[in-house]
Amino acid sequence: MKRNILITGGAGFIGSHVVRLFVEKYPDYNIINLDKLTYAGNLANLKDVEQKPNYTFVKADICDFDAVCEIFDKYDIDGVIHLAAESHVDRSIKDPFTFARTNVIGTLSLLQAARLKWEAKPERYEGKRFYHISTDEVYGALEFDDTLFTEQTKYDPHSPYSASKASSDHFVRAFHDTYGMPTVVTNCSNNYGPYQFPEKLIPLFINNIRHRRPLPVYGKGENVRDWLYVEDHARAIDVIFHEGKVADTYNIGGFNEWRNIDLIKVIIRTVDRLIGNPEGYSDELITYVTDRAGHDLRYAIDSRKLKNELGWEPSLQFEEGIEKTVRWYLDNQEWMDNITSGEYEKYYEEMYKGR
Ligand code: NAD
Ligand code: DAU
Repeated sequence: MKRNILITGGAGFIGSHVVRLFVEKYPDYNIINLDKLTYAGNLANLKDVEQKPNYTFVKADICDFDAVCEIFDKYDIDGVIHLAAESHVDRSIKDPFTFARTNVIGTLSLLQAARLKWEAKPERYEGKRFYHISTDEVYGALEFDDTLFTEQTKYDPHSPYSASKASSDHFVRAFHDTYGMPTVVTNCSNNYGPYQFPEKLIPLFINNIRHRRPLPVYGKGENVRDWLYVEDHARAIDVIFHEGKVADTYNIGGFNEWRNIDLIKVIIRTVDRLIGNPEGYSDELITYVTDRAGHDLRYAIDSRKLKNELGWEPSLQFEEGIEKTVRWYLDNQEWMDNITSGEYEKYYEEMYKGR
């Protein structure tokens, strides 16, 4: 079946994996990648698909309502997979306005454009879908002995990032309840894998080990995250876009909880082994620094609903995923060096200065 699918944020980390999967798996779909190319957007993430006939890139800001409406008209969009966002918690602590603008107003602008364009058609919402990608951070933080986040867990965001994502989730659900738009929302745990911007824990630490820079562990390193390989997330998005129930919510997670400090030791061991350093060589780089403000203690997702209803589960064991990931960053040093030249040093200085 022919479809025209708008993927927002397709030049970012997760978005690039989703674009690649859809372009390759569905030659009959036209995939339109809308991305503003902020510091986090990088067309080098999509080098291998940019020449495909079913792929189009459009540089635009999701907050620019007129530009978004034009894209809906020009490409006759009938499905949206919305990933564009400001995504880094530490940046949201320094600059919450940008997060409210992109994540809340940007999402609203897409919803309103979709509504106006789809309602103007004789078939209205038939065959349409608006899929919003959200995060487990909207549920707040768990204690070590709490049970996992389910789809029924009450929203309790703590950072400006998660507050902005929670707000955008509410707008998406409101557009279903008010206008009947066929929406779906997913809340996913921490992703890892190739093409992640080196402000996030795993690529940052791999790169710092390579350059023998300190590894800034927040607080005591006791916080827990649930890690999922990014291609497994992209597969889940594919399944839910096609088979998820309208107006429903699905949690996506890895059933793979790691205390930060334990994960960091795995990263150090893997990088040292692959570079040819003696075991324990880079342990001395571990540096405990001032904790992140409002640092959520633990996230852990119960994704049994997705497994039971749609048959999805993570395919990759963590040991295999982390080995693949470290290898990828070491093999793609040019990609990393391009990103970390220019503005990056300034960001790094500001983020870690005085901690
Ligand atoms: P990312 O920061 O790597 O990429 C975000 C992309 O959005 C970039 O390409 C950027 O250029 C684009 N963008 C930003 N502002 C824009 C704007 N105003 N208009 C158009 N494009 C804009 O993010 P990511 O880690 O790939 O996350 C993607 C989505 O998944 C986000 O919505 C995030 O909240 C969600 N999510 C991420 C994770 C994770 O672990 N990374 C986990 C769960 C959910
Ligand atoms: O849970 C899903 C979320 O995961 C996504 O919604 C976010 O977009 C994504 O950035 C991620 O958020 P986290 O804050 O969990 O990811 P981050 O990689 O920034 O940090 C992971 C953990 O590591 C967290 O407990 C903070 C800690 N950390 C992070 C950095 C960057 C450090 O100890 N030192 C660091 O330098």
